[in-house]
Amino acid sequence: MEFTVKSGNPEKQRTACVVVGVYEPRRPSPAAARLDEASGGHLGAVLRRGDLEGKLGQTLLLHQVPGTLCDRVLLVGCGRERELNETRYRQVLVAAAQRLNEIGAMEAVSYLPELAVRGRDLPWKVRLAVEATEEALYRFEQFLSKPERPRRPLRRLVLGVPRRRDLPACEEAVAIGQAVAAGVRLARDLGNLPPNVCTPSYLAEQAAELAGRHPACRVQVLEREDMEREGMGALLAVARGSRQPPKLIVLEYRGGGESEPPVALVGKGVTFDAGGISLKPAAAMDEMKYDMCGAAAVLGTLEAAARLRLPLNLLGVVPATENLPGGNATRPGDIVRTLSGQTVEILNTDAEGRLILCDALTYCERFGPETVIDIATLTGACVIALGRHATGLMSNHPPLAHELLAAGRTAADRAWELPLWEEYQEQLKSPFADMANIGGREAGTITAACFLARFTGKFRWAHLDIAGTAWLTGERKNATGRPVPLLTQFLLERAAAREGGSR
Ligand code: BES
Ligand code: MN
Ligand code: ZN
Repeated sequence: MEFTVKSGNPEKQRTACVVVGVYEPRRPSPAAARLDEASGGHLGAVLRRGDLEGKLGQTLLLHQVPGTLCDRVLLVGCGRERELNETRYRQVLVAAAQRLNEIGAMEAVSYLPELAVRGRDLPWKVRLAVEATEEALYRFEQFLSKPERPRRPLRRLVLGVPRRRDLPACEEAVAIGQAVAAGVRLARDLGNLPPNVCTPSYLAEQAAELAGRHPACRVQVLEREDMEREGMGALLAVARGSRQPPKLIVLEYRGGGESEPPVALVGKGVTFDAGGISLKPAAAMDEMKYDMCGAAAVLGTLEAAARLRLPLNLLGVVPATENLPGGNATRPGDIVRTLSGQTVEILNTDAEGRLILCDALTYCERFGPETVIDIATLTGACVIALGRHATGLMSNHPPLAHELLAAGRTAADRAWELPLWEEYQEQLKSPFADMANIGGREAGTITAACFLARFTGKFRWAHLDIAGTAWLTGERKNATGRPVPLLTQFLLERAAAREGGSR
């Protein structure tokens, strides 16, 4: 998709389609009011007839609107004006993009960025328009023999802005939106790939390709023997049941100063989670191919950061393995020694994410990170607690939690904090080892984070549980690419703070 910004009036646009918003109940946005005036009251008459109430996501296509130079006008419902917030604005954009893609208008000029979203400026709205449009048009069809494609898909979207002097900032916003969208696309593709293709080795190859695309990136992959030499007993315990060799992928992006400590992103890369000997039930087990979406988010965020040439140093660490049962697999009751030296009694082999992450977190120590953020489809309990709307956030450093929550609001990719109080640690007690790998039925998302917290004493750390947000389930199953927008926003703000700049 091609995106550009342009100033000028809607009635003057010579294009296949002009897109304008209509608020509920039947109230034109400024651009819609202009078209109404230019057309001698045509739009107002249509609205009064009751063809479009203006409910969120409704659309109505008009042809040959008098007084305009465009072939069509697409009206998009925005809901009540006062209720338009970040997520609703995104829904408006998605509805418009889907309809545009179907009607055969290969190009359109959209005035949706003029809609008022409280506390958000024009560049923000332009950027979100790019991200949401790309998100709406995404298809994963590489395994379909006959993909269903519109004959004339949307190819070019022009974003209308009020004034010429808005153009430079909005052009930069387009570039940011495109970088985030590219990161989201990469994360979605990796998530959607079947587990027989997207193996730990495949993830390592994709990391190498990413590094090949960007001169500021470097990749290093630790093999099983390296993990043995290092003493990563927990990661190795998970990999035992699989024929696929595990990989610990270390990606570096150097955009900051020589000696500046990196922000580390650690992503769970379980390319298929059958549960191991603690086997999962059969229903929807295919969805456990998404158990590498933390890893996908790390690669996606590095892709976005590299495209934006962010003036930061980043470290991406991905422990990648399958979790399968087998004659050599880890048994419930096995005790392993982690890279940190602490021992773990593995009571449930399906609580494998924390086992691979704990060694990856300890491994980060040697890079002297400024901050470490892990991203993981870690617990089903998080889906129960927060559903699919918010990522679970837990941290040992309140200002970091605050930063991430704000970044999630800005990116319309929200997180919600859960407590990490020490009282919860008791649930991980084991009579035989330093800790157990499960903490019982209560507060499952928190006890999983408590486990990780025992490996993060040496740095500022936050944990993002994306079990609910990384993919859509059931009929509409698909990877979402979350939380790439949140993480990229977080890094953009870090970069801006460092430069004292404006981005
Ligand atoms: N990958 C799963 C978590 C998960 C479950 C994500 C459902 C998305 C949907 C994780 O490895 C797991 O199996 N967790 C267990 C932990 C339990 C054994 C303590 C869970 O959530 O049931
Ligand atoms: Mn599991
Ligand atoms: Zn898992």
